[in-house]
Amino acid sequence: MQAQAYRASLLRFDDAGHARYDSDGLLVTGPDAAGRQVVLAAGDHATLAGQFPGLSVTHWPGRIIAPGFVDLHLHYPQTDVIGSPAEGLLPWLEHYTFPHEARFADGDYAAGVARFFLDELARHGVTTALTFATSHPASVDALFGEARARGLRLITGKVLQDSHSPDGVRDQTEQSLADTEALIRKWHGVDRLGYAITPRFAPSCSEAQLRGAGELAARYPEVWIQSHVAENLDEIAWARALFPQSRSYLSIYADHGLMRRRAVYAHCIHFHDEDRALMKDTGTAAAVCPTSNLFLGSGFFDFAGAERVGFLHGLASDVGGGTSFSPFHTMLAAYHAGRASVTGGGEGKPGVSLAPERLWWQHTAGAARALGLEGVIGNLQPGCEADFVVLNPQATPLLARKTAQAENLAELLFAMIVLGDDRLVERSVIA
Ligand code: GUN
Ligand code: ZN
Repeated sequence: MQAQAYRASLLRFDDAGHARYDSDGLLVTGPDAAGRQVVLAAGDHATLAGQFPGLSVTHWPGRIIAPGFVDLHLHYPQTDVIGSPAEGLLPWLEHYTFPHEARFADGDYAAGVARFFLDELARHGVTTALTFATSHPASVDALFGEARARGLRLITGKVLQDSHSPDGVRDQTEQSLADTEALIRKWHGVDRLGYAITPRFAPSCSEAQLRGAGELAARYPEVWIQSHVAENLDEIAWARALFPQSRSYLSIYADHGLMRRRAVYAHCIHFHDEDRALMKDTGTAAAVCPTSNLFLGSGFFDFAGAERVGFLHGLASDVGGGTSFSPFHTMLAAYHAGRASVTGGGEGKPGVSLAPERLWWQHTAGAARALGLEGVIGNLQPGCEADFVVLNPQATPLLARKTAQAENLAELLFAMIVLGDDRLVERSVIA
């Protein structure tokens, strides 16, 4: 790949997570010593242009170049489960999700869904995802194969679920752990791909399976871990009954060696401060999934509590519990969840008004930080891999009208968060 230069408005973040914006910006990308396509320079066009004489510049007037979005938690096999109505999490899993996931034993079927899923991520401006596969190794091979062909940085793993799961998705303890290790060796670190050890959630895993997963997590410290926790009150009661010796639902994972840097737990809604402290002390991250939490009636993530204790968290769609692939829909739902969340243990204090640049950061550079990939993806500072989106703030009549009236960056970003969807994303560029 040659050096490339792009001129447009340019959004990126500094190390403190504050937005930097050049209304007439320049982004220069090119190969680093290892051959990866990275950002070589980013900033004001007038300042930078003279430093790259002879480089032809692609000009996108009226457009905004921004970091590709990072989705911290979703399920590629649930692409067709979006919008399936249920009373709550457990009936939704039983009636829709498990029967659907059983189809992914067939690698050809899985590859077809993987292609559609990756097309959909690109259309929505998501350039990296941490996604569940299913319990079938073929589902992992299918997605990694497609992602590799597209040059994507993507993380996935075979779901572990040897208990309380129906025929068709239930796996066998020993075999599931052997399959996980074989998949780690086959895929982790190949091109831009990463493996995640994936216990579905404590109620679907035997003690032996969780222990084995924790042993693999210790043996492969660069591999990710992903699971679910504290999403729904019935789920919590079930997990507590199955593992009564653990202090809380979250502690079950700690007790099995599954909380550490590069571990990402979806939802994290019904937490006490001991749980928040455990997240922080272990370097574990929360994937906040507001469209899913609203859809399944699970509750609201406590953003103020997470900030107060200071544990890693970022945004996620949780498709198919989530209702949209769009990062704009997720950011808006996160804003609503912040408004609705009651801080301080239910004493009725009003929720928070999350700043637009904070929401955007939590879906880009902040999400990358939660993955341990700060400075690698989710930002457009020099050295970052050159995954970016080109946004058209004139994409709809109302967006054009509203963004034209923005008097500062917060107003511009908020207009796009509130009014944006896939029409805003003109293109996604993969390094
Ligand atoms: N808990 C266990 N499995 C799932 C799942 O597929 N989706 C959600 N939202 N929660 C879960
Ligand atoms: Zn999920």
